[in-house]
Amino acid sequence: MAKVPHSAFARIYDLFMVPNDRFGLRHQRVRLCGTAAGRVLEVGIGTGLNIPHYKNAASLVGIDNHRGMLRRAIPRIWESPMHVDLVAADARSLPFPDAAFDSVVVGFALCTIPSPGDALEELARVTGPDGQLHFLEHVRSIRPRTAKLQDRFGTAWEKVSGGCRANQDTTALLEQSSWSMDTFWASTGGGLIQGSAIRR
Ligand SMILES: C[S@@+](CC[C@H](N)C(=O)[O-])C[C@H]1O[C@@H](n2cnc3c(N)ncnc32)[C@H](O)[C@@H]1O
Repeated sequence: MAKVPHSAFARIYDLFMVPNDRFGLRHQRVRLCGTAAGRVLEVGIGTGLNIPHYKNAASLVGIDNHRGMLRRAIPRIWESPMHVDLVAADARSLPFPDAAFDSVVVGFALCTIPSPGDALEELARVTGPDGQLHFLEHVRSIRPRTAKLQDRFGTAWEKVSGGCRANQDTTALLEQSSWSMDTFWASTGGGLIQGSAIRR
């Protein structure tokens, strides 16, 4: 199967995602962003679908390594009452000093960022000892049949979804990182996780 180029992925992302938000994900996004306070960094901000849901952020910096996605986030910044900066950067090597942020938010991005374990350590560095991580990710299902399907179609999915690894065990990655789970929720099938973590 041919790989969908990143530019095309950026064009179709909202077409695919906005209906998902209408039928359930919006609620999850509200919870993801609502508790992020102070100086907030969102990693892999994409087209900025989370921007309208920040209610307690003093400021927001959104980073993504894909300029096509960032360009599509710009109208959402204009509509936001909050000051938002967009920066083209790689989550594994962020152009910010240590402890520059109070909270970091990551939504459906750890599945796409290569070597997400390295990214989690970099997020710990830029949030400092009192930092908080808020996450919402789809993960390898705890249902064996679904997990098998994720394994089987994983390579094809990766090609059409901008590099998303559908069968990644992000819960294990979080547990092995410098972050310690504070709140944790998983969907019934275990395919979606949400929560917050604090620095170990
Ligand atoms: C599935 S999208 C999620 C977008 C957004 N967070 C949302 O909830 O709709 C994943 C995003 O992660 C970004 N990404 C992938 N690898 C990255 C990296 N190494 N550094 C920064 N962003 C990255 C992609 O460009 C993409 O915009």
